Order: sequence, then structure tokens, then C-alpha cells
Amino acid sequence: MSYFAGKVVVVTGGSEGIGKALVDLLLQNGAQVATCGRTYEKLYELQTTHAGRPLHTTTADVSKEGDCRNFIDSVIKTFGSIDILINNAGISMRALFKDVELVTLHSLMDVNFWGTVYCTKFALNEIIKAKGTVVGVSSIAGFRGLPGRTGYSASKFAVHGFLEALRTEVLDDGVNVMWVCPGFTSSNIRNVALDKDAKPQKENPMDEDKMMSAHECAEYILEAIEKRKRTKVLTFLGLRTLFMNKFFPGITDKLIRKFYFKDGELLK
Ligand SMILES: NC(=O)c1ccc[n+]([C@@H]2O[C@H](COP(=O)([O-])OP(=O)(O)OC[C@H]3O[C@@H](n4cnc5c(N)ncnc54)[C@H](OP(=O)(O)O)[C@@H]3O)[C@@H](O)[C@H]2O)c1
Repeated sequence: MSYFAGKVVVVTGGSEGIGKALVDLLLQNGAQVATCGRTYEKLYELQTTHAGRPLHTTTADVSKEGDCRNFIDSVIKTFGSIDILINNAGISMRALFKDVELVTLHSLMDVNFWGTVYCTKFALNEIIKAKGTVVGVSSIAGFRGLPGRTGYSASKFAVHGFLEALRTEVLDDGVNVMWVCPGFTSSNIRNVALDKDAKPQKENPMDEDKMMSAHECAEYILEAIEKRKRTKVLTFLGLRTLFMNKFFPGITDKLIRKFYFKDGELLK
């Protein structure tokens, strides 16, 4: 029997990309799943695809405290408990800090950091009762700042600090707090990444076909949850970047600059 069978799992941002792949896999594994997103139509489509399965969806913007409280309350009302919370909803950006309007950075922090804080706050008592798991879907950018992504990197570093502190607080409660770091994964995130004016950039400078699929990424995340890992970096490129950054930070600055820039212009 699957580790997830019968468990109540909350996935924020489950209507697209990695979150949707998590919802699909969790339902296949017999979990009772709840998810949210800002767009009703995408959630409706998800419900239609999984008609007859234990899936609860609510329209909620995780950057809003009230939405997160209502969403988590509705999950408890529907399923009676929460075993696992996967803080997945997230947005990215692409703009140099010298050009960016500060609203872009505020938006990144509101969704990626505060969204994680709000949902975790409202779900934590139930997760403690269940001796369950809190997960942050983070990024390599949470270990190593990436150019053109100052707000994204800051928000993921903040998520790591928040989750690491919480992990230590609840260690004796039997709760596992963990964060996973996908590498480049094919999804919608780059199309809707915020530009310097906090508008979706609507162009994708990267080749999605060369990336890990959202399905494979979700499989790795579920495996890490089941093994109650502390943290999991999902790609070799990610692991190599962390190793290089720890031991050769100056060289890593240059390599990352080379990867993201061409002739002084931000390429990716
Ligand atoms: N894809 C990658 O290469 C990659 C790499 C490393 C880490 N990650 C992380 O993985 C997570 C998922 O990313 P993804 O690539 O799957 O992105 P995605 O394809 O853009 O999907 C994002 C999902 O989150 C929802 N969402 C966005 N903002 C939200 C908000 N304010 N409130 C509630 N839901 C919201 C979206 O639905 P609505 O738009 O309808 O709200 C959608 O369902 C993110 O935390 C991201 O940082 C992704």
C-alpha cells in the first residue's frame, strides 16, 4: 500500500506545473488531496479530470492571509485533519535589480515567502496532531542567489530560514519540516515570471524540452517526503552548483554570470 494512501495532503498551487503533477500522483496513490490557486477555471478543469476522487479545491491567493486561513479551514472541514502540507505555489521573476520596480520584489516575497508562512501557520496544529510533514518547494536560488532573480532568490532564502527554524522548534513533536529544490522543470513558471514592472513577462528564453518533466519532479518530491528527508536537491546541476558555491564561491560567481549573461545582457 502506498505511504500516501488515506493521508490528507494539502498542495498549494496545484492547478498547474509541479503542483498539478503532485495532485495527480497523490490521488493515484490514494491520498485525500486539497489544493488552491487563483484561477477558478484551472481548478474546475482539475476537478473535472479527477471527478469521483477525494479532491477538494478552493480559489485562494496565498499572498493573502485571509485566503490562506479560509483555504486551510475548508480543508479541515472537508477531510477532518491534515497530514502533509506542501507549500508549492510560487512565482518567479526576470529583471535586473537596477531596473526593477520594488513592487516586483514585494510580490515575490508575498507569494513565495508569506504564502508559505500563512499556510503553515494555519495548518500546523493539525500537522502536529498527525505527526506529519511540512514541505517547502524551494529552489537552488534558495541556496545560491541567481542574477535577474533578486526577489526570487531572497524569497527562497527566506523560506529556507523560516522552515529550518520551524524544523528545530517541532523536532520533538514528531513533525518533519523539509524543503526540496527542483532544478529547471518544464512548467508555466517562466511564462508568468514577473518583469521589472511586476507584469508577466510572457516570453520564455529557455528551452522547456530540455528540462525535467513536472511529473518526474513530483515523483522525486513524494519520495523525499516518504523518506522524511531534511532537504533534497533534485538535479546533478543543482548539487554541483551547491558544492562549487560552498568551496569555490568566487569561481561560481563567474560561472553563473556566464550562464545567465551574453555580451552584458541578461540572456535567461
Ligand atoms: N519550474 C521550475 O523550473 C522550478 C524550479 C525550481 C523551483 N520551482 C518551484 O516550484 C514551485 C511550482 O512552480 P511551477 O514551475 O510548477 O510553476 P507554475 O507552472 O507557474 O505553477 C504555479 C502554480 O501555483 C499557482 N499560483 C501561483 N501564484 C499563486 C498564488 N499567489 N496563490 C495561489 N496559487 C498560486 C498557479 O495557479 P494560478 O496562476 O491560477 O494561481 C499554479 O497552479 C514554485 O514554488 C517554484 O518556485 C520551480
